Amino acid sequence: MCSSDLSPASGSAVKGTVTFTKVEGGVKVVADLEGLTPGDHGFHIHQFGDCSAPDATSAGGHFNPHGAPHAGPTAEIRHAGDLGNITAEASGKAHYERLDPSLKLDGAESIIGRGVIVHANADDLKTQPTGNAGGRVACGVIGVAKD
Ligand code: CU
Ligand code: ZN
Repeated sequence: MCSSDLSPASGSAVKGTVTFTKVEGGVKVVADLEGLTPGDHGFHIHQFGDCSAPDATSAGGHFNPHGAPHAGPTAEIRHAGDLGNITAEASGKAHYERLDPSLKLDGAESIIGRGVIVHANADDLKTQPTGNAGGRVACGVIGVAKD
């Protein structure tokens, strides 16, 4: 299993945890976050596991090993890192759970060591190359975790 602890970026109070577990048919992604504004927030794996910049731009663009266009998580052709949106309730808490058929936890396209970003705004799933999701409000690095 892999996981990422997300810390606030860009002066937000957003934090939480994302886990990636290999299961039959792909990788199960489970995220629990708090401190969000209510509504949809773009949620992606980014190229670099580097959250050092205050606005998390150090994580680079969306993880995209195949040079594909940006899209939604159910699109056949997409950035590998396109996980869509995470939806926060009025309390600011958000829960996300999805089986992703294409994420890899090993090999040349492994997501280990990459970044996880939550954005200020919703991902429209079509604007290139970012989904127009706005600033970065939380950032984490994906590491190998104890099962
Ligand atoms: Cu992103
Ligand atoms: Zn993308």
